[in-house]
Amino acid sequence: MEILKASYLLTPEEILQGVDLAIDGGRIVEIGPNLQERYPKATLHHYPGRAILPGFCNPHLHLEFSANRATLSYGDFIVWLESVIRHRERLIPRCDEACLEWAIEEILSSGTTTIGAISSYGGDLEAAVRSGLNVAYFSEIIGSNPGAADILYSDFLHRYYRAKKYEGERFRACVAIHSPYAVHYVLAKKALELARKEETLVSLHFMESRAEREWLDSDSGDFRQFFEKFLNQRKAANRPLEFLQLFHDLQTLVVHSVWANDAELDLIAQEGHAIVHCPRSNRLLGNGVLDLDRLKARAIPYSIATDGLSSNYSLNMYDELRAALFLHPDYPALSFAKELLVQATTWAKRLGFASGTLEAGNFADLQIVQIPEDLEVVEELYLHLILHTHKPEVVYLQGVRHGK
Ligand code: BEZ
Ligand code: FE2
Repeated sequence: MEILKASYLLTPEEILQGVDLAIDGGRIVEIGPNLQERYPKATLHHYPGRAILPGFCNPHLHLEFSANRATLSYGDFIVWLESVIRHRERLIPRCDEACLEWAIEEILSSGTTTIGAISSYGGDLEAAVRSGLNVAYFSEIIGSNPGAADILYSDFLHRYYRAKKYEGERFRACVAIHSPYAVHYVLAKKALELARKEETLVSLHFMESRAEREWLDSDSGDFRQFFEKFLNQRKAANRPLEFLQLFHDLQTLVVHSVWANDAELDLIAQEGHAIVHCPRSNRLLGNGVLDLDRLKARAIPYSIATDGLSSNYSLNMYDELRAALFLHPDYPALSFAKELLVQATTWAKRLGFASGTLEAGNFADLQIVQIPEDLEVVEELYLHLILHTHKPEVVYLQGVRHGK
């Protein structure tokens, strides 16, 4: 048994002081004062001036794209998407084992212990399993050409079942439908039948760009030329509300939703789906800023994610939380910082893992963060954590210590 003693413990809803945390067998066994008196044989780790908080959950990223730095064009969504299509066959192999391991180390060392990993090809599977992180591994289906549906579906099934072999307490095989503009209705329906049968979590990119809004509503806008050029297609394959209805009764992470309309948000709320907000990715691809008021008005749960290095410059959740803080200036900094941190940790449970809160029985997935020495008002800790942390000093993954 090990006892961790720090100046602050974030549960994360509450800030506790004078309280220790005992871990054993990779799990939290107890939280309380003076635990070394109760467990005199335990090893004591003392972290003065530090806070212990749960590891982060980054619910949406693409490990396969981790080799990208400046290959893909940022600034405009359609220009970016064309660059993805032009370069993906070379970019994906460039993320070899060493690149995947580097990306996972970046994720872990910046305090994230749970991820939602979208995989289009499956080459990242073993690295994801070996990472020891809690992984919701979303095998993704993409393809708008009905002629290729059978091949695409059998490839998807193969990837899904290959992932399923690794299922356990730290790994869940899940289903991702790329988006309503890139997945044919029939293909989405079939993949979602599997998700329903297998009771998996589902992920969907939805209403990321103005171009997607205009194309799906009225076959117009910047996607018109794109679809003519790449796919010889003049009409959108789906209407958005009808497409969303396919996700009835499926626990779905709806990613982006910046351009979702009221009826779509009403349906998302009614179905109990949750929204994943990727503020830096949205900003870099010219997609604008998600209006969180429209989510809050409907009590739609949301949390923050980095998206992949295909549309971001780091997989560090502290970087993302800082960006979120500054991209939503209308929310009071102190309460919004707490809201962001609570969601960024507790979402591990939404992804299906016993992690994300400091509770006995949960995995000991923790971060230990240095707190500014001159902190005066304890309640301001949440904000200062976001402002001053680049990486935690130590991360515990299932009770195993990483870092200094
Ligand atoms: C595809 O990869 O099949 C695809 C990508 C973007 C839009 C439509 C289809
Ligand atoms: Fe994404």
